Amino acid sequence: MDQKHPAETCPATRPRRFYDCTLNEKLLYTSFLFLAGLAYIMALAYLYTSFEGIDGKPGLSVEDIAENYYGNRSGTRLESALRGSMAGYIETKHRNHVVKWLKSGAPEEGYERVIKPMFDERCVLCHSAASGLQIPDLSSYEGVKQVANVDTGVSLHSLMKVSHIHLFGIALVALAIGLVFRFALLPAWFQHMLTLLPFVAIFSDISAWFLTKWDPVYAYTVIIAGGLLGLSWALQILISLYQIWFLGCRVASENEGDNS
Ligand code: HEC
Repeated sequence: MDQKHPAETCPATRPRRFYDCTLNEKLLYTSFLFLAGLAYIMALAYLYTSFEGIDGKPGLSVEDIAENYYGNRSGTRLESALRGSMAGYIETKHRNHVVKWLKSGAPEEGYERVIKPMFDERCVLCHSAASGLQIPDLSSYEGVKQVANVDTGVSLHSLMKVSHIHLFGIALVALAIGLVFRFALLPAWFQHMLTLLPFVAIFSDISAWFLTKWDPVYAYTVIIAGGLLGLSWALQILISLYQIWFLGCRVASENEGDNS
């Protein structure tokens, strides 16, 4: 083998396509794409079951996404219970005292003076460890505090945890699918765009998780970016699978003198 300067050999090479791949490569790529596609469908099913119904209504909606990241800042669990299922245990006048205390930030001093006597009388019968019920313990300040915080959604800390795992994981999967997809025979602009799309989508998606914590309107970005990721992977996988098994080399005769 005589070593040539790369610049001399470059123009003669054409990019490899799926029809240039050996059967062994085709089997490898096909198996990988199948499992990756299956993993994506599983991820969607998991996403649906973990986000569905967060807002109290069945089905997955923008509100579910917004509430997961932004929280439901219109009130606390305690206030919604007092206006809802627990309304029967307290008179309106007393409820207003509790709401006022909650709005002032639920300080401990106010708890001892106003709230504790009221709750001891009306709620602690059921809401204490002694009752054996799996419901919030309202016999102490610590217990009440658990249901007295405004719901601000997923914490920044767990968002950072989930997003670094996603970024590493999805970047690798996108790389692997993209490495197979590069053998596809497509108009260059389309192939370049489709190669970049999953990376752009996952970046927008994860940025939007953080933005949604700040403003729930970005829940739409989360959904659109997630949809684009799915769409671009579906296209890459389906085009690759099709071309692996069904695209023959139409220009073979033109390149015959080319086997250097
Ligand atoms: C007769 C027993 C009983 C009494 C009295 C009672 N509760 Fe409850 N409470 C329950 C049960 C059972 C649940 C869980 C089922 C539910 O949420 O309806 C619950 C749930 C709650 C929850 C949690 C709701 C959630 O978001 O999961 C809060 C907060 C609450 N009660 C507050 C109160 C307050 C405040 C009082 C007193 C004014 C009170 N309860 C009196 C039985 C009681």
